[in-house]
Amino acid sequence: MNNNKIINEIKKLKEKKNAIILAHNYQIPEIQQIADIVGDSLKLSQEAAKAKEEIIILSGVHFMAESAKILAPDKKILLPVKDAGCPMAEMVEVEQLKAFKKNNPNIPIVCYVNTSAEVKAECDICCTSSNAVNIIKNIPSDKILFVPDQNLGQYIAKQVPEKQIILWEGYCIVHHRVKATETKMIRECYPEAKFLIHPECQPEIQDEADFIGSTSQIINYANSSQADTFVIGTEIGVLHMLQEQNPDKRFFSLSPGLICANMKKTTLEDIRNALVNEENEITLSKELRVKAHDALKRMLELS
Ligand code: 13P
Ligand code: SF4
Repeated sequence: MNNNKIINEIKKLKEKKNAIILAHNYQIPEIQQIADIVGDSLKLSQEAAKAKEEIIILSGVHFMAESAKILAPDKKILLPVKDAGCPMAEMVEVEQLKAFKKNNPNIPIVCYVNTSAEVKAECDICCTSSNAVNIIKNIPSDKILFVPDQNLGQYIAKQVPEKQIILWEGYCIVHHRVKATETKMIRECYPEAKFLIHPECQPEIQDEADFIGSTSQIINYANSSQADTFVIGTEIGVLHMLQEQNPDKRFFSLSPGLICANMKKTTLEDIRNALVNEENEITLSKELRVKAHDALKRMLELS
């Protein structure tokens, strides 16, 4: 079936079923084009929390749909592809956090939004890559455990030197594999380019950055910059919006490895099928939802 036919079906179904499509900046271009909202993890959470529609199609990965359910418990939240997950979110388990809390009852825990609802339920506050520094600065404690991304954790530690950040050993399998040799090579090809890097990259890659931020912050930086050439150190999906919004500027990916297989699982057909069948609904027990809500709510209040 051709794309136009599926797109028309999606538009009609969306209206008929009173649904909204929220898509992450890493989704394939065809999905970004039909989505009602395209954004970073923070934007998707904010939009889910205020959505008026009965159904939210979360085109992204599992933790994003779960966050939407926590923030909009009365809505039907559908993840178009059931096994679209985030490997980093599985690098911290709730039992490990419970053990840490038992041994360190006075150390607050901040979790990256890339975590399960069970983990969020054990944390004091959540953050995304766009607000992590601000959130950590606001916590009235000199010592904080940050889970699970060690690279974002090291970025925060540099920005907030007055606090001791205890790091976890998790990482994003996509951003963590970018190598310094790749940065050097592309710098030689485009010496005039601005390097815009996601904080999930390793510190030696971050050191090369002209700007470090979330996916949407990277897009905003490029939109308002006077420069015309950029090297993008995050998943390749953001290049679509960058090129669309800046047709006269040039964008190059920092590494061919910057493709998240999980973010690329969802197709237009999956979105259409989610609207037709209303399958893969996210469900959470009330107890877990309420516990996890506190951490997300505190984040949104500070964002
Ligand atoms: P942001 O869009 O919040 O920068 O997150 C990046 C990411 O890896 C999401 O999984
Ligand atoms: Fe998870 Fe990394 Fe993919 Fe984001 S890019 S969903 S952090 S694996």
